[in-house]
Amino acid sequence: MTAPTGIPQRESWATRAGFILAAVGSAVGLGNMWRFSYIASEGGGAAFVLLYLVIVLIVGIPLMTAEFVVGRMSQESPARALKRLGGKAWAPLGWLFVFCGLGILSYYSVIAGWTMRYAVDAVRNAIPEDTAAYFAQVSSGGDAVIAHLIFMAITVYIVASGVKKGIERASLIMMPLLFLILIGLALWAATLPGGGAGYAYYLKPDLRRLLEPEILADAAGQAFFSLSLGMGALMTYASYLKSEENLGREAATVAFADTGVAFVAGLVVFPVIFSFGLTDQVSESTVGALFISLPKGFELLGRLGDYIDTAFFVMLFFAALTSAISLLEVVVAALVDVWNLPRRATAIGAGAGIALLGLPSAYDTDILGASDQLVGNFLLVVGGFFTALLVGYKLLTQADAELSKGLANQTLRRRWAMLIRYAVPVILLGVIASGLRPTWQALRTLFGV
Ligand code: PFF
Repeated sequence: MTAPTGIPQRESWATRAGFILAAVGSAVGLGNMWRFSYIASEGGGAAFVLLYLVIVLIVGIPLMTAEFVVGRMSQESPARALKRLGGKAWAPLGWLFVFCGLGILSYYSVIAGWTMRYAVDAVRNAIPEDTAAYFAQVSSGGDAVIAHLIFMAITVYIVASGVKKGIERASLIMMPLLFLILIGLALWAATLPGGGAGYAYYLKPDLRRLLEPEILADAAGQAFFSLSLGMGALMTYASYLKSEENLGREAATVAFADTGVAFVAGLVVFPVIFSFGLTDQVSESTVGALFISLPKGFELLGRLGDYIDTAFFVMLFFAALTSAISLLEVVVAALVDVWNLPRRATAIGAGAGIALLGLPSAYDTDILGASDQLVGNFLLVVGGFFTALLVGYKLLTQADAELSKGLANQTLRRRWAMLIRYAVPVILLGVIASGLRPTWQALRTLFGV
């Protein structure tokens, strides 16, 4: 498509549903399916879920609104837009986003590769009985590398196909299927004998835990990762918006969908584990529960289990893929918009680079964990903190005007501005401070000092 001036026209979403489902697709990912329910069960059950909701309301939705507003206002990648709108000093923030995209996708794709392998083997009915040995095989060495490379190739293919034909189409197909499968699985899990103990373990409120400072940091880190905040992914998606919808409402929709999926995923995982007496594996590792205990539980069901594990891992694979495309899109949009590169070649080049960057994580889960702590936990919060400062102090007038296009209610917009200027930065400063120690540890693991 070429505009009369000869400059290639930037793409945009075909439909509002396409944008929403792509944004929900970015948010709903591996983070929802295992991380949330475990952090919740260890962090105070229902009490944690409440704290998490408060953070989503006070920090998540306002910041997501801010990302949407800057994205739609700029009509270009954050890597270019932040410098143009905020001045030279803000250019590094746009590149920090790109760095986070590269960094997260490099290891995210490794875990996604495992889920893809599980999904394929589940369809072929080839998940062996000894799920622990199977997981060890799938998650290390050559098997893990091959799955990681194939998953990256699929991600590249979708992003290379463009915003409408690639990302929007993939989200419109995969997200409704994901919702259907999840609801089906939750209803099935509710019928399991002895599953009630699982709900109790997941949600038993423990108010004392809420007073511990790490719980706040855990909840905030999880919220950022799960909502895809702090690295311009949703900003990039919103830069393909043309219409003037209410961006506050869109942010609330995406945040509630994401939180709902995380919550319901826990209603699937825990009853299965308790009903089949697999609780000893729960405390060992979160990954172990998902990839070892659950398939073991499904196995005990015989034929029905074959369908259920297929549904479960296909759902996980869809969740991972729609998130991975948003991570790659941040990088690709930056290169396309800053240097005017062609999308297809850029997606292939960036994907190849990320695939290489992920090799150490495919071989060594300590490196994977350290990368997750550094980029997935810490840098996202740092990115969110600076985004709030930029929007709240430097761009507020413009941002408010942009938001007002779909949100006429001035009181709501004023409240949003207060949150972005005061509550969000203060809370995030606390979260950053409490994340310094584990991040230092992660750096030592990564650089071997
Ligand atoms: N939100 C995704 C998940 O919960 O798995 C992960 C993610 C995607 C984080 C995109 C950040 C991002 F920009």
